Amino acid sequence: MEALEAIFTRRSIRQYENKKIPDELVQKILAAGMSAPSAGNEQPWQFILLSEKSILQEMHKLNPYAVMAKDASLAIIVCGDLSLEKHEGFWVEDCAAAAQNILLAVHALGLGAVWTGIYPRQDRVEAFRNFFKMPEHVIPLALIPIGYPAQKPVTQERFRQDRIHTNKW
Ligand SMILES: Cc1cc2nc3c(=O)[nH]c(=O)nc-3n(C[C@H](O)[C@H](O)[C@H](O)COP(=O)(O)O)c2cc1C
Repeated sequence: MEALEAIFTRRSIRQYENKKIPDELVQKILAAGMSAPSAGNEQPWQFILLSEKSILQEMHKLNPYAVMAKDASLAIIVCGDLSLEKHEGFWVEDCAAAAQNILLAVHALGLGAVWTGIYPRQDRVEAFRNFFKMPEHVIPLALIPIGYPAQKPVTQERFRQDRIHTNKW
């Protein structure tokens, strides 16, 4: 799929077919995440790949808005690793760019995904950290359930001229 088509047609997918995703596609998706831009090229991300059904079925207990993870083929938790940061505080933007790359790669490969937010909600950050026994310097940003789409949301036109300020506010 061409890049602009992927950007304009991506939608959150929350219903999935019960079907395994081939390993080579999973590698491509993770590689897309790692191709994101980052401040000073610091690449401060770590990814937790969830492929076990029993773990996917627990995720809604950590974020009640991630109930769709139960039916996903897999999920990726995008985490910021503060020990890898060169420019303090930019891990959020870096990891958000990685998460968006993952969403676009998933869509371009004919799969579906949804970003479910963890950071900055401290209760969710703590819940994920405790569940996965993450070290203190690692902060979970987003859980992204992924699968073959079992729904087809329509594309939305979101262009708004009034949000564009040319040469002045
Ligand atoms: C930071 C962030 C957090 C989000 N958290 C959730 C979530 O917890 N659960 C969920 O179902 N969707 C979540 N979403 C997905 C949004 O609801 C979705 O992107 C938005 O409604 C626009 O729809 P679209 O992705 O289909 O374009 C989140 C998206 C972002 C960017």
